[in-house]
Amino acid sequence: MRARAVLALALALVLALALAGGCWTGSVPEPRAAEPRIAERPSLYVRIGGGGELEAIVDELMDGIEADGRIDMYFMNADGGTIRRRLTEWLCVASRGPCRYTGKPLHEAHAGMPIGDLDFDAFVDVFTRVLHRRGIRGRERIELVLLLRRARADVVETSRSP
Ligand code: HEM
Repeated sequence: MRARAVLALALALVLALALAGGCWTGSVPEPRAAEPRIAERPSLYVRIGGGGELEAIVDELMDGIEADGRIDMYFMNADGGTIRRRLTEWLCVASRGPCRYTGKPLHEAHAGMPIGDLDFDAFVDVFTRVLHRRGIRGRERIELVLLLRRARADVVETSRSP
């Protein structure tokens, strides 16, 4: 009986030493400080340089649309100042900036305009060229263009349900 107790004690001791010595192979993940998680990355708004950059992008976009000539006719009767302000607000909110969008929902703002897929693509094309010219590249350019592409169904007349 006494021999068994000694044996059990010895086994417990060996196990405790093995664990303390790092022989444990269970999966305890190591923290990896060098890889920030996506949630910790600054907002798109911050990464592109904030509100001043967005205002400049929208100014160049509206000027570019006029010069490009493919969709400028849609904007002929619109108040350029209001569109610039609201589009800047919209982009600010969409890129997680500290703004409030004061315009109509996009499907309402574009209701009744026969905007087609080609018109929408022309808008995105001019926008992409503005980003290129302003030196917005890589991940930030892709994310900004995606913000517009995700809004296609609210803008394009033919993709709306009757
Ligand atoms: C994702 C792409 C687009 C976004 C995010 C966008 C956003 C906006 C915003 C925020 C406004 C102002 C709404 C308000 O004042 O309440 C607006 C107005 C307007 N948009 Fe767009 N737009 C897009 C695409 C287009 C396209 C492709 C066209 C035409 C080809 C277009 C034509 C117009 C016009 C004419 C107005 C003025 C409407 C009015 O004065 O009542 N938009 N847009």
